[in-house]
Amino acid sequence: MQIIAEVAQLRTTVSDWRRAGLKIAFVPTMGNLHAGHFKLVDEAKKHADKVIVSIFVNPMQFGPTEDLAKYPRTLTADCEGLTAHQADLVFTPTPELMYPRGLESQTAVEVPKVGDLHCGASRPGHFRGVATIVSKLFNLVQPDVALFGKKDYQQLAVIRRFTEDLSFGIDIVGVDTERAADGLALSSRNGFLTPEQRATAPLIYQQLQWLQQQIIDGFADFRALEQQVATTLQQAGFRPDYVHICDRQSLDLADSNQTPLVILLAAFLGSTRLIDNLEV
Ligand code: PAF
Repeated sequence: MQIIAEVAQLRTTVSDWRRAGLKIAFVPTMGNLHAGHFKLVDEAKKHADKVIVSIFVNPMQFGPTEDLAKYPRTLTADCEGLTAHQADLVFTPTPELMYPRGLESQTAVEVPKVGDLHCGASRPGHFRGVATIVSKLFNLVQPDVALFGKKDYQQLAVIRRFTEDLSFGIDIVGVDTERAADGLALSSRNGFLTPEQRATAPLIYQQLQWLQQQIIDGFADFRALEQQVATTLQQAGFRPDYVHICDRQSLDLADSNQTPLVILLAAFLGSTRLIDNLEV
């Protein structure tokens, strides 16, 4: 597996592969890779001849009070894992390379509406940062297909939207969430949980499943259901950010005569913000 940190070397390798008629799949990450990321790499191999993974902790998507400095950086272990999963190339740029003029002067990609709801409302500027870095990476890597986890459901919707709006011509593939045996969605942020918080965290998925069942059973007052889940989480020690039953396409809040649906949820456990979702 090649490890490349420079743009010129990346571009040369990509154009050699393109000239040879090879199809390229891309998995953007922020590193600290776990089984969920390796599932994306395995899936990527089914879609293309070459798999490129990027590892870049993107400062533009972190708010001023968020965990950029303490975000785990585990490059050696990540590269070992990627070699084992037969990725072909890992791109590891620095912030200076990606944002040479600094964040204040960076041209940005805004994704209105779908990027303003839910996590976009709680974390202003987050999806602007995601859309900007993913656009830059798309231009550098020039993939045929790019893969993202469905755990970040709204992120996937934002990426689908700007890829279409800006005519990138890249197929976006969503891959199912990888879960621990107790149902907790795998996330780099799970590593911040204390043992006690880790034992409490699976309640999120249990509550999503409960809510899904209520909807299937025909309980029609969605706002009351959302409130009930938020209260249950609060009583267990979470600080719920939102529990929203949404239209799967627009991600707008849904009512009981709309389908298909997705339940989106974000909650803090201590200072760790966890997100999860479940399609209905
Ligand atoms: O999901 C992530 O890890 C990040 O948001 C992404 C897509 C790599 C952009 O920095």
